Amino acid sequence: MVLPILMDGGNYIKEGKDSAKSTCLIFSPKEEAVGALAKCLKLFEEHGVNLRHIESRPSARFPNTHEFMVECAPTGNLGGAIETLQQNSSYFNIISRNHKDNMETIPWFPRRIRDLDKFANQILSYGHELDSDHPGFTDPVYRTRRKYFADIAYNYKHGQPLPRVDYTKEETATWGAVFKELTKLYPTHACKEHNHVFPLLVQNCGYREDNIPQLQDVSNFLKDCTGFTLRPVAGLLSSRDFLAGLAFRVFHSTQYIRHSSAPLYTPEPDVCHELLGHAPLFADPAFAQFSQEIGLASLGAPDEYIEKLATCFWFTVEFGLCRQEGQLKAYGAGLLSSFGELQYCLSDKPDRKPFEPMKTAEQKYPITEYQPIYFVAESFEDAKEKMIKYAHTIPRHFGVRYNAYTESIDILDSKPQIQGLMENINCEMQILMDALRKL
Ligand SMILES: [Fe+2]
Repeated sequence: MVLPILMDGGNYIKEGKDSAKSTCLIFSPKEEAVGALAKCLKLFEEHGVNLRHIESRPSARFPNTHEFMVECAPTGNLGGAIETLQQNSSYFNIISRNHKDNMETIPWFPRRIRDLDKFANQILSYGHELDSDHPGFTDPVYRTRRKYFADIAYNYKHGQPLPRVDYTKEETATWGAVFKELTKLYPTHACKEHNHVFPLLVQNCGYREDNIPQLQDVSNFLKDCTGFTLRPVAGLLSSRDFLAGLAFRVFHSTQYIRHSSAPLYTPEPDVCHELLGHAPLFADPAFAQFSQEIGLASLGAPDEYIEKLATCFWFTVEFGLCRQEGQLKAYGAGLLSSFGELQYCLSDKPDRKPFEPMKTAEQKYPITEYQPIYFVAESFEDAKEKMIKYAHTIPRHFGVRYNAYTESIDILDSKPQIQGLMENINCEMQILMDALRKL
């Protein structure tokens, strides 16, 4: 699969087959004098490097200067050109590198929330392709229905309303069976955050035994609580794409329901898992932030770290336990949407260990049976602090920050930019200090 090159600076977009063969640089010449660019370009000529592409724009990092993006062919003495150019630049960054030079390419990641639309074309399997042991494999009506849901998600674009679905009587009955059993366990087995939010979902989003809530209503509710939103997903996303969504506080949600022949079993996530397991917790501010931290850590991370982060996600957001007032409670969606495992996870059968991302990230796990090991978080705040510390161990030469105003990722890799941000935070601190004085 050919992935577009990551273009720092937002407006530079380059995608194409040649990306792996070229090296892309962004730089601002030290002087803004007439001919500064020509001087820099001369360096490439002197080192025998061909340029395939040049773009320019006003710099967002240094006011009243320009920055340039060049794509270099793997010719001549590129290393020498880079070294000299770096000395003559006030800003210099290598965006992607030629594999032949034994250099690494930063994996592409979405910079704006609408970039998540690109994931729809990158799904690993389309949602109606069922395995032969799937309960709905031999049911043509169910398969047609799955295709309908997959098509909705495939054609969905950021900003559109989430399509409302008329669920059939049979589908609603399946939801009802799951809803009835799980809601019996929540008061004793679920964490207090889940129990706090659940009645609000009943009140605001039509959570009832005889009604499957609509994704749009749940998404609106979450947006009001924590800024999280839902987007439909047509099939299996790669871990990298799925985690990247979380950086934007976007959760990719299925909309179909499990097969009616086995209401208490599903081999894959379905609308019961998403709405009963995941949605309530995304309304909790600390949990929302914890989830976003995993997402932010994943942006541009090397493949092996994506796997580690996905494992941390698995043992927290999917199968996490926490301690509350001396008692173990479940907060993972895989537990809160499974009648059997919700009871099993709090019994004395499985092993339990404290959540430590460094160790948790290395733990192997089965995906089709109950977990033999669970990790216990002291609190969402504590888990978040640990995730942030863990994220610092991921090799990445830039910092990232989500800008909620522009719904985009800021890449932090230059001092003026970071200073500007500090000034903003300083302003906010003054607002807080002022408010504190008034109390
Ligand atoms: Fe899930």
